[in-house]
Amino acid sequence: MASTIQGQVARYLRDAYAMEHQSLTTLEAAEKITGDVDLEQTIRGHVTETKQHITHVGTRLEQLGETPSKLKNLAGKVGAVALGAGIVVQRDRPGKLLAVAYAYEHFEIAAYELLRRVAEKAGDTATVEVADRILAQERSAAEKLSWSFDAAVEASLEKTGATS
Ligand SMILES: [Fe+2]
Repeated sequence: MASTIQGQVARYLRDAYAMEHQSLTTLEAAEKITGDVDLEQTIRGHVTETKQHITHVGTRLEQLGETPSKLKNLAGKVGAVALGAGIVVQRDRPGKLLAVAYAYEHFEIAAYELLRRVAEKAGDTATVEVADRILAQERSAAEKLSWSFDAAVEASLEKTGATS
């Protein structure tokens, strides 16, 4: 199959689409078990943004000719293997959850940085705009998560009983 830069843009968009579904699955699970009010609020806010990211990336893929059934397949590939699965049963889960969420936001940031650069090379300004808009929200989400490190440590220590 011949490879073009625009073809690579579409591949990165498909990866981003699947990645956002993975993120949504993980965030929705995390939201219920944070053990900290501020962290819960941050995660809830990013659940809303993540749904918007799915819409933005999906719309761009459709504009590039992806069919709704192919998009559905991409979303379905995520399955049950959510990042952070298993954390639910750990007593120090607020800290572990935060670490997974923080790492995942940076994974997303890297993915959109790559997408935006390839799109720029392809002259695909619509995709560059989508990547830029999402990147700003991913960065903001990562920063907000970092504000919860202290609270997550306290909540984790409390849950493990290691308070002194
Ligand atoms: Fe995100």
